[in-house]
Amino acid sequence: MSELSVKHLLGIKYLNESDIQLIFETADHFKEVINRSIKKVPSLRDITIANIFFENSTRTKLSFELAEKRLSADVINFSASQSSVKKGETLIDTVNNILSMKVDMVVMRHPNPGAGIFLSKHVNASIVNAGDGAHEHPTQALLDSYSIREKLGDVAGKNVVIVGDILHSRVALSNIFALKLQGANVKVCGPKTLLPKHVESLGVKVETDLRKALNWCDVANMLRIQNERLDISYFPTTREYTQQYGVNKTLLNSLDKEIVIMHPGPINRGVEITSDVADSKQSIILNQVENGVAIRMAVIYLLAAKIK
Ligand code: CP
Repeated sequence: MSELSVKHLLGIKYLNESDIQLIFETADHFKEVINRSIKKVPSLRDITIANIFFENSTRTKLSFELAEKRLSADVINFSASQSSVKKGETLIDTVNNILSMKVDMVVMRHPNPGAGIFLSKHVNASIVNAGDGAHEHPTQALLDSYSIREKLGDVAGKNVVIVGDILHSRVALSNIFALKLQGANVKVCGPKTLLPKHVESLGVKVETDLRKALNWCDVANMLRIQNERLDISYFPTTREYTQQYGVNKTLLNSLDKEIVIMHPGPINRGVEITSDVADSKQSIILNQVENGVAIRMAVIYLLAAKIK
């Protein structure tokens, strides 16, 4: 197979295992490209991409923009906070106005779950979901699995625990879908109040004891508390949360084995992860960021091939 089964990247839920392998093989090529002295290829010289962000972002926004520029696409950036959205313009009107400037692809981050799916039904462009509320963040999950594959050789058969605020996390849901598709064993760990009811129906196991979860896993993906999505208090205090669900060097050193530590960012140092863990040799956090560019180049390149 040399093309994706989808026209948009709306979520991992819509991909199959072959799509993921194709994205990884394409990313392998682009990773080699971005480590050359000349980091740019002319592949998408005739493609225009709009990055429209209705929510804050550092990593995802910069990574997409860099990926697009490395592929020689024309890029325009739109930030809702500085736009006519503030004057009451609707999402469809906003995007149709952008598309009338002959834009081929829209990369969108939006606070509402399903915003990308909605848009894909109303506009004539390829849509890439850069995070939709607490729903999905597909490129984050792809770069996370790609980073596990790079570090441990394969994702299949690996034990991965996702720790923290699973309830409000788009990273958790996309990671669960991606890891399960590739044959990993997945546990989620956190306070019961931050675990979705019936999460086991996604094929994952629940562990509320962090030490047990870490002793079981090969990889721990630490998530931050999504404070911006918390409507009520889900645990007594941040200090208690950190005591029960934060990783620190003493805890890691007391485990039976050395595990790989991941975090999608942004990190809340001293809450879910201490600095001596985040900056340790067990951490692949910055490798994840580096791999994000290659993964996003692969996704955009493969989706652009469906437009032509
Ligand atoms: N991982 C992630 O989505 O980070 P940003 O919110 O900074 O894009």
